[in-house]
Amino acid sequence: MTTSLASLRLSGELFKTDPYPIYARLRAEAPAFSRTSRDGNARMWWLTRHADVAAALRQPDLFVKDVHSTLNETEHTAPAPPLYRLLTDHMLNADGARHARLRTLVSKAFSARQIEGLEPQLRTTAHRLLDRVSARGRMDYIQEFALPFSIAAIGDLLGIPSRDHHRFRAWSHILVAPSSDSARNLRKTERLQQVMTDFVGYLEKICAERRRSPQPDLISFLLAAEEQGDSLNIEELFSMVLLLTVVGHETSVFLLADQLLILLSRPLLWAALRADHSLLTPAIEEAIRFDGPVERATIRFAAADIDLHGQTLRRGDAVSLVLASAHRDETVYPCPAHYDLDRPALRHLGFGQGVHYCLGAPLARLEARIALEVLLDRLPTLQQVEAPTALRWQTNPILRGPRQLLLHWQS
Ligand code: HEM
Repeated sequence: MTTSLASLRLSGELFKTDPYPIYARLRAEAPAFSRTSRDGNARMWWLTRHADVAAALRQPDLFVKDVHSTLNETEHTAPAPPLYRLLTDHMLNADGARHARLRTLVSKAFSARQIEGLEPQLRTTAHRLLDRVSARGRMDYIQEFALPFSIAAIGDLLGIPSRDHHRFRAWSHILVAPSSDSARNLRKTERLQQVMTDFVGYLEKICAERRRSPQPDLISFLLAAEEQGDSLNIEELFSMVLLLTVVGHETSVFLLADQLLILLSRPLLWAALRADHSLLTPAIEEAIRFDGPVERATIRFAAADIDLHGQTLRRGDAVSLVLASAHRDETVYPCPAHYDLDRPALRHLGFGQGVHYCLGAPLARLEARIALEVLLDRLPTLQQVEAPTALRWQTNPILRGPRQLLLHWQS
């Protein structure tokens, strides 16, 4: 018996194990699908077709990030306490001129040249991490490689000394939670309060050091922008660093894990990549389309009533753009459930599109390529310990990746 659309589960571990059949059903039967909150006050829409997702990403004035801009005067909620505002008042949640100003300030630091300059350091980090485990013949890939590697990447860009990377890793792990459904509960916890206090205290110390002695890093660059009379104040700077740490780390960890899962389950492809590293670029791009780390873009809100597929999205309704579903849309990608290196170069939406297009895309691609090159060269017999069907997936509503990825090889 087929489950009714109303009783479909769009979260939880079972759903995450294989969300694709459910997304296929939504694309076919309910391309604009909605659910109302238990108290009846809020409505969330899921857009699952490629054309709708791409169109919404390209209309930032109609699908806005800041919910307050969609509310009436009387509906305004109390502002969050200042410390927590640092977690939410950043460019990913900003619209229009404010977003453009913040993005322009930081985007120079993400130039191709700046990112390429990180390659030698990152390669050294990858080798150092493998040196620790290679003789052992097995590792917990996420804990022992992907996490420390991606924290090092964002830490090197920001200018955080490597001796402190482990602190960033611990902080961002806790900070990531507020972007999930349980945000309100977590905000109340003393633990989050403590982490924010420690993080901000640490940033104040680093900023004081960089003011005295600027370095070729992102924090010095942002401080210089502030001091040249630009409008980036110190709270915005902290908020930017927090955003980059959080989004630049979890997404990359999942990209590293997801792409490896795909390649390890295709031994012929693994062998082809070992023989020819020029295949890595299409392999990484197709991995992002096929089963990429960002399942859904961050939440938007309808800025006006929008008619779509015979339904009306009301002003203020939340909208989730399901990138993972758009990537399996058969009207755009022939045989979408097939991982195909020879797919004609068709852009995926895995880094978003439009004004919020991922700033970190060049860094994420660099991390993905270095990680694979080093693994292919040093651990050619790499295999997954568990059967792919035994894998347990994270239940994060936005990101997609395994909880754990155990690997072994002939040492
Ligand atoms: C080095 C790591 C990364 C950094 C520093 C980074 C940084 C950012 C920033 C700052 C934004 C917000 C841009 C804006 O609002 O103008 C963003 C957006 C985005 N990033 Fe990344 N990112 C990283 C890795 C990744 C990875 C690995 C993926 C997935 C393959 C990804 C996917 C996205 C997507 C889909 C958006 C758009 C979100 C939306 O429109 O709702 N990012 N990223």
